[in-house]
Amino acid sequence: MQSKLPNVGTTIFTVMSKMAQDHNAINLSQGFPDFDCPERLKELVSYYLNDRRNQYPPMTGIPALREQIAKKVSQYYGYDADPETEVTVTSGATEALFDAIQAVVSAGDEVIVFDPAYDSYEPAVILAGAKTIHIPMSQPDYSIDWDRVEQSLSEKTRLIIINSPHNPCGSLLQDSDFDTLARIIRDRNILVLSDEVYEHMVFDGVKHKSVLSHPELREKSFAVFSFGKTYHATGWKLAYCVAPKNLTIEFRKVHQFVTFTSSSFVQFAIADFMQECPEHALELPKFYQAKRDYFCSLVQDSRFSFTPSGGTYFQLLDYSEISDQSDMDFNLYLTKEKGVAAIPLTPFYESAPDSRVLRFCFCKDDSTLEQAAEILCAL
Ligand SMILES: Cc1ncc(COP(=O)(O)O)c(C=O)c1O
Repeated sequence: MQSKLPNVGTTIFTVMSKMAQDHNAINLSQGFPDFDCPERLKELVSYYLNDRRNQYPPMTGIPALREQIAKKVSQYYGYDADPETEVTVTSGATEALFDAIQAVVSAGDEVIVFDPAYDSYEPAVILAGAKTIHIPMSQPDYSIDWDRVEQSLSEKTRLIIINSPHNPCGSLLQDSDFDTLARIIRDRNILVLSDEVYEHMVFDGVKHKSVLSHPELREKSFAVFSFGKTYHATGWKLAYCVAPKNLTIEFRKVHQFVTFTSSSFVQFAIADFMQECPEHALELPKFYQAKRDYFCSLVQDSRFSFTPSGGTYFQLLDYSEISDQSDMDFNLYLTKEKGVAAIPLTPFYESAPDSRVLRFCFCKDDSTLEQAAEILCAL
């Protein structure tokens, strides 16, 4: 049988988490917290589980949750999304990204992604029979070269996938990026998929810029968010997509046959929690900025160099002063010989630059960060 995805193996996140476990290394690779989600949220999940909320919820998500999402979107991004026709609950952002791509990308189309690109985008594009056009982000600040994007557009371009705050780089899109994107796709048949799963992890007083705040762009965009990131519950795989009615209709056609719906009791619990504890999301930037600052202060005197991450719960560290090994090799050495696992950037590129950078996840208990930093400082 011929593989439909011949170049796809196991994701680097799974590979590194397993390797960290096998070698008893501190796992700063895969992006999940080693602290728990809020107690109240767990109480609500267990309440609804025991309240017999265990059968199929509506395909689009329970109304109470979609209403809370619409309220939140209005409050944060100034857009009054219709919970009935513009909000869909999904089984993780991964599902929402896949659904959006399958909904609007056809065989022969082209989809633009920015490298290093989150690794779920391209397989979904290939399964749609389309081609991914990779545009590398500009160094050293991992910004987007819009002139190059404009030059890469063709009659076949159907979708541009953006991701801010950016995993793995921690860079943020600015208002000017959205204005330029809106201008270059104006009068063209091109849509936007905006991956905003780290919306609440933006630091130094900067506010997250959502595509939903841009009146022109939001008419052509799917915006994807994840409760897993916001509520320290990545294992629950609950997320949502906000898109205009015409796009949501197509999105739901895919969603209903990919998963149909998502975990019922978790939806009820999160709807209540959003209503009861809006401060959780409001406090996240401060919470994660403190983690970033602590991790950066711990490695300040090491031979790694870095610019503090602008968002996400990842910090890039440049190891050029320590080794001239490739990022894949240095990461293996670090994991197996030294006991700290990170993520190399090469797997997120079509054609990786010759840089010496690894991604470290800092959504960990302070004691985990301290142990890891002690090792990193000794290199
Ligand atoms: C940029 C980005 N998009 C999407 C996802 C997937 O989110 P979820 O776990 O909700 O499927 C992740 C998870 O790490 C991510 O980093």
